[in-house]
Order: sequence, then C-alpha cells, then structure tokens
Amino acid sequence: MRLLKKTGTRYLLLTLEPQRYSPGAYLLLKDRLSDRGLLLQIIDIEYADLPGLLEDYLREELESELVVEVEDHDPMGILNVLTEVRDASLLVCEARAAIAGDQLDEFVGYAPSRAQSIVQVLEHEQLATLLNPGKVHYPICIGSFWRSSVDTEFVIDAERLDGTVSVITGMKGMGKSHLAKHLVLGLLKYNVPLLVLDVNGEYTRIGYLRDGTPAPWHNRIHVLRPCENYQLSVEAIGLRSFIRLLANALQLPAQSQRVLRIAWQNLEQRGITPTLSALMQEVMRRNGVSYQVREAIYSRLEYLRSTQLFNDQAAQQDPVPDLLAKGNTVILDLHSLSPMLQRVIVEYILSKLADLLEQRALPPLFLVAEEAHLYLRDTHWEEIVTRMRHLGIFTIFVTNQPSRIPDHVYRQLDNLFLFRFVNENDLRFVARASRIDVDTVRYLLPNLPRGVCLVVGVVTRNLPVLVRVSGLEAEAQGETRRFFATPRLSAASALARAAS
Ligand SMILES: Nc1ncnc2c1ncn2[C@@H]1O[C@H](COP(=O)(O)OP(=O)(O)O)[C@@H](O)[C@H]1O
Ligand SMILES: [Mg+2]
Repeated sequence: MRLLKKTGTRYLLLTLEPQRYSPGAYLLLKDRLSDRGLLLQIIDIEYADLPGLLEDYLREELESELVVEVEDHDPMGILNVLTEVRDASLLVCEARAAIAGDQLDEFVGYAPSRAQSIVQVLEHEQLATLLNPGKVHYPICIGSFWRSSVDTEFVIDAERLDGTVSVITGMKGMGKSHLAKHLVLGLLKYNVPLLVLDVNGEYTRIGYLRDGTPAPWHNRIHVLRPCENYQLSVEAIGLRSFIRLLANALQLPAQSQRVLRIAWQNLEQRGITPTLSALMQEVMRRNGVSYQVREAIYSRLEYLRSTQLFNDQAAQQDPVPDLLAKGNTVILDLHSLSPMLQRVIVEYILSKLADLLEQRALPPLFLVAEEAHLYLRDTHWEEIVTRMRHLGIFTIFVTNQPSRIPDHVYRQLDNLFLFRFVNENDLRFVARASRIDVDTVRYLLPNLPRGVCLVVGVVTRNLPVLVRVSGLEAEAQGETRRFFATPRLSAASALARAAS
C-alpha cells in the first residue's frame, strides 16, 4: 500500500488488494523514523483512475469478440499482473488523530513523510485499547466492532457517560431504541438512577428475560403508567410546580396564575386541602376576578380533572423521586396519553426533579427521552442541556427526526450514535450537527445495515467507530397490541408447553 496524496486531513492510499479493507476501518500511517503516526479511517473505496486503463478495457472488449485463447500464450503470468493492476483501488481516508507512542493527540496537522511512512491495519483489539486505555471501571458492552474477523467487544465505560448529553438517531427500525435499552440495562447494573420517557410503551418489558420470566434486575424496574398506577395529588405537587405546570404545559396567562396562587393560599389559610375541585370552587367564589381569568383557570383545571392524572386520594408524595434516589429505573409509559397530557407530565416531572437536584435532595440521574420533540417545549431543550445538566440530569435523546432537535443541543453534545440514513436532508443535517466531516456521514451512513451504528464522542475519545449492536438479554418489545391477536410463542415457552 502506498500513500498517494494528502489534501488537508484527507488522505488517498493506493492498494492492490481492496478486498482486504472496508469503510470504517482504521489504518495506522507510521513514520519509520520516529514513533509518530496518524490514525486514518477509511471512509470510502474508489477504483483507481489509472491512465490508459480505459484504452485497455476497450481493447479487451474488442478482443473478446475475436475469441483469442490468450492464457496459453502467457508464460510470464503477465495477465495476472494486469488484472491486479486493474483492481488497484484508492482508499479514501480521513485523519482522525495523531499518535505518539501509545498516546492519542487530536492534532492531525502534520504531514507524515511520503517516502518514510508505512501503513498498517489497526486491528480491533488495538483500537479497543486506544479507546479505553486504562481499566474500564463500569463496562457496558453494547456489541462488537463491525466487521471484526474475531469478535472484539465494543465496551463503553459508564463513567464516560456520566455528565454527558447524547443523541441516538437514524431511520425508523434501525435499532435506536434497542441500543437505548442496552444503555438502560447497562446503567441499571450499576444502580444508576434512571428515568425513561417511553412514548411508545416499548421499555415496559425490560424487567423480563426473553423467555418471559422475570430478570434478576426485575425488582429495580418500575413501570409507571400515568392516570393508572401513577396518580398525583395536587397538594403533593405543591404550589410552585402546579403553577409552573399550568403556565408551561397549558399556557395559563400570567394574570390567571396570580389569581390561582391567591386562591391556593386562601385555601391553605382556611385549613382546606387544595384539591382540583377546591381550587375550582375558590376561583369561582372570588369577587373582582374577570370572567376571562376565571374561565382560563377553570377550563384548565377541568381538563386536568378529566385526565384522571390527579387523584385527591393519591399518595402524599410522588413516588418517582424516591425510587430514583434509591438507584432504580423508572419507566414512565406515556404511550396511551394524548400529546397534551404527555407534555403536562413531562413538564411536571422535569421541574420536580430539577428542584430536588437543586436542593441536593436527589443524586444525579440519567434521562432517556424517546422522540422528545413530541412533548418537550422548545425552551426546555436548552434548559435540559445547560441548566439541568449542570444540576445533574444527563440526557440520552432518541429520535428518527434529527432536525427536530435544536442546533444548540448538538453544539453541546458529547456523544452521537448514528444509525442508517439515506435521505439527503437527514444526511446533510447530521453531518452539520455532528462534528465529523460531511463525507464520512455521506459515505458511511447510507450503507449501514440494521443494528450497526457509528459512535462518536466522549465514549470513543472522538474517534468515529462502527459498532454492531448485539442482541438484548431482556425482552426488547413492550406489550404490542395487535389486530390479529394470536400470541406468538417464544421458542422456550413453546417447548415448555409441548413438554407439559
Ligand atoms: N442489534 C440488534 N440485534 C437484534 N435485534 C435488533 C437489533 N437492533 C434492532 N433490533 C430489532 O429491530 C427492530 C427495530 O429496532 P428498534 O430499536 O425498535 O428501531 P428504532 O428505534 O430505530 O425504530 C426491533 O424489533 C428490535 O428488537
Ligand atoms: Mg424506536
């Protein structure tokens, strides 16, 4: 292999054995005279455009029509050599890091000697060691390096997810949620408090093994369904959160907020518990309040009453903070709720957690937000990645619409997990949003099969790496309702049934 050309951080290498290499793989361009080198990642493989090749092919086409038995007259094996030359290909590579000894350095600005450099394939084990040079304290294995001849595990150190914001994106059905479940199960092992905003109801079975039996971590997973097994009392929410919820999720105007606050305080002064009905009565009772203001408050409280999210008999305390504080995973199953109610709940829970974190009443926690554009207010995004992150909420956003995540989130992003995209707009968007070059995204992403993703960020020391995500120990699906509701048996339970 030969170093042919360098333009900026783009390198072209000439090889006669293109079949040995695949896009995404790493090469080490080593300076023979020093211990310096460059880590190059192959992003595309092109045919080498050799002068005279076209003429050669044309001549061959013509000759094939004359049917000449050339092989018999080729004692020197020249034809073989020619075929090899025609196979000559260019490896289009991007320099990802400089390497000195076994130290990585992000500065890739130096030009290695063309005469004195040698190119080696960086084996996956070597890459794994570069990514995690020290001891991995909290390993989460999400799969293996893609196209490794021997299966080399790809391990994320949970410590490196700590304090970060991540995005998992790609087309529908490519394995985003599957990967998110891997991270959930991995973090759960280390008693990390974790909240999942599960819009599709697909995390509800991760407390079970694939044969349907409860998993060893079953007791640490709590599936809460708002309005069913998760109801709140207005009193437990408290005045501040309640007003904030009405203001932010249901757009209660400022003047009405003031009236509602006074009504709440009046009730308390008279020793009456502020329930939805008590508040409604109190607002209606008050003189000197305009019809519009009353109506604004009344209609919203009436809406909340209709949702059954509030129940005056509900526990005095919201169970979520306590579950999280004890290192549990809480799955908030939002799938059967209207978008408006989803917003109400997310608004409430995020502000509640932020308050508790501010008071240091909760340890830092992870948040998995599936399709967050459905229920997150625009202003909330910024808050989550700046203020809430500072307080200790570390978010993993999962979406198939990367452009619905605002730009400033990408600017502060630590980790990106990119699955397949083919749509030109999506590709352009993720290229801009990720800090990797446009070509890497354009060449690599459209060719990824399901379950393979490009990981880049803090967890990979900023080296883009292709990873095949492995199967899950837990049940991957939630309870799916089907029209043709014949239950499909898992192999294990079918065997058990046949044996009984
Ligand atoms: N790495 C994988 N190994 C095995 N099955 C997978 C893998 N990735 C995805 N799947 C399966 O493919 C389907 C779609 O994956 P999912 O994660 O729901 O896609 P997405 O969230 O990107 O729409 C699911 O049934 C899931 O179990
Ligand atoms: Mg999904």
